[in-house]
Amino acid sequence: MVPNIISKTALYQCLYLRMLKSTLLEAIHEAAAQMRSFIDQDFKVENKIGINNLVTEVDHASERVIIETIKRNFPEHHILSEECGDLIQDSQYKWIIDPIDGTVNFAHRIPICCISIGIEYNGKMAMAAIYNPFMHELYFAERDKGAVLNDKPISVSKKEKVENACLVTGFPYTYLDEPNGPLQVFERFIRKGIPVRRLGSAAIDLAWVAAGRFDGFYEHNLEAWDSAAGFLLVEEAGGKVSDLKGNPYNPYQPGIIASNGLMHKELVDWVTGNINN
Ligand code: IPD
Ligand code: CA
Ligand code: CA
Repeated sequence: MVPNIISKTALYQCLYLRMLKSTLLEAIHEAAAQMRSFIDQDFKVENKIGINNLVTEVDHASERVIIETIKRNFPEHHILSEECGDLIQDSQYKWIIDPIDGTVNFAHRIPICCISIGIEYNGKMAMAAIYNPFMHELYFAERDKGAVLNDKPISVSKKEKVENACLVTGFPYTYLDEPNGPLQVFERFIRKGIPVRRLGSAAIDLAWVAAGRFDGFYEHNLEAWDSAAGFLLVEEAGGKVSDLKGNPYNPYQPGIIASNGLMHKELVDWVTGNINN
């Protein structure tokens, strides 16, 4: 009989991952409590650069409790968060945080908004969670362990052709009218009768691709905190994520295409204008 031996390193790694997960979930629930407690009250709303690029006091409150939770458990980890920027530490771990994704929706009390947190290990996404506290939807993924919604496994859709797809996109705060820019690509789909939704939260867009609700998502100008967690969720749900040209995805460049994988190449052709229609 082979004895059931587990090495000290494997045990340590397992415990470390467990602690990462519990800290991630604690942080996200703390932030959700802030979002829930403010939604029925007045809160301060300010404009960042551009028109209607909002930040509320709730974005700051959410970010504060997330960072406090991480620092309490992993004071040596690097943190990148939308409102406070890079808190650089010499660490293999980096937390990439959007304290509220869908701030314009939140400011208008539209319940399509979330907290998005991804954890990178040695430059690769390792763990991610996205939580919409108003729809009670908690998405979680760990590298090579799949993706779940409220603890139930999820997977991407099975549609093969873009002409049968339901897509989602978003538009940057600064107007982009260049060839193959957001408006031109949007028009291309709409003129062919392909439904393209616009929810206002890139993290939820990605989570819904992972859950098989949308067949594909593309956007021209995102930041790492918008997409890092959703990137892992889509991959772990069996989908594919690339840049706008179909190259392997890197959250530190602006363009993204995410899909169920089956229609990925065709979706890249639609977005790049490499189609005959
Ligand atoms: C925005 C949302 C939106 C996307 C914008 C993002 P924010 O994030 O994800 O869907 O179109 O590009 O900036 O400002 O709500 O965190
Ligand atoms: Ca965002
Ligand atoms: Ca945000």
